[in-house]
Amino acid sequence: MADLDELKVAKNYYVDVPFANQGDFQVKGCNGLDWGMKKHLSNIFNPKTGKTVMFAFDHGYFMGSTAGLERLDLKIPPLAPYVDVWMATRGALRTCIPANLTNGVALRVTSGSSMVQEDLSQEVVAVDIEDAIRMNADCMAVQTFIGADGQLSSLENLSKVVNAGFRYSIPTMGVVAVGKQMERTDRFFKLATRIVAELGCQIVKTYYCDNFEEVVSACPVPIVVAGGKKLTEKDALEMTYKCIQGGAAGVDMGRNIFQSTHPVQMAHAVHEVVHNGLTGAEGYELFQTLVSESK
Ligand code: 5RP
Repeated sequence: MADLDELKVAKNYYVDVPFANQGDFQVKGCNGLDWGMKKHLSNIFNPKTGKTVMFAFDHGYFMGSTAGLERLDLKIPPLAPYVDVWMATRGALRTCIPANLTNGVALRVTSGSSMVQEDLSQEVVAVDIEDAIRMNADCMAVQTFIGADGQLSSLENLSKVVNAGFRYSIPTMGVVAVGKQMERTDRFFKLATRIVAELGCQIVKTYYCDNFEEVVSACPVPIVVAGGKKLTEKDALEMTYKCIQGGAAGVDMGRNIFQSTHPVQMAHAVHEVVHNGLTGAEGYELFQTLVSESK
């Protein structure tokens, strides 16, 4: 197909040229939004650094009880000082996270598949916009499945949530899932992140890949990067650094924090790499120091 061949041609992504329509707002592509949207986005992206540390612990929505997340009430609140935004389900937030913690909220609003199924790509919008408003959600997270059986319904879900979000000034985060039949290439991520952004969401969550700078450059809204499977702390901090260097507006990290031997110290180190310019190696050195001080 000619349209697909087009994707193979190298393009100039102007990776060194800053985004042109930034204005004075810290969030890429969001300068033209109204006050309410910008207020929520400022609860997510630190106005000074323009970055965010989201902490994802929504795994239970399709994995059930997950290693490291057996007791949300015990494990999650101590991470609060180093986390800008909780990414979680309404069930986890309402039951286990004290409402007097001031972290932002990325509310998972889709669900419908579980680990025991072959095809994880069939989801529905499970949370009404009224409940997102009641929970003071700063954004609503919708899973998308480009190139999988559930593509059409997931993009319908995304569009419904984006439309409701615009009615009430709540941003939407499109989460790019990688189906079994897809490869984690820049070609796939350029396709998926751009489709999701053009459907109107204000944040895209995706994975790190080769030529990540080009993926970021071609996406007109901020990209936050999922941590993915558990790595060593050293490698996870190096990946965090590479994401930030590559233009990511932050991370949305789960397992590499909550499955760490020392989740609080890991969250602290990730925070320093994302917001305060530490390299991966410096972040790891900090992690080790914090761990030894905690003994
Ligand atoms: C699933 C998600 C999860 O929140 C996210 O992937 C979990 O984070 P991690 O991969 O870092 O454990 O969005 O699509």
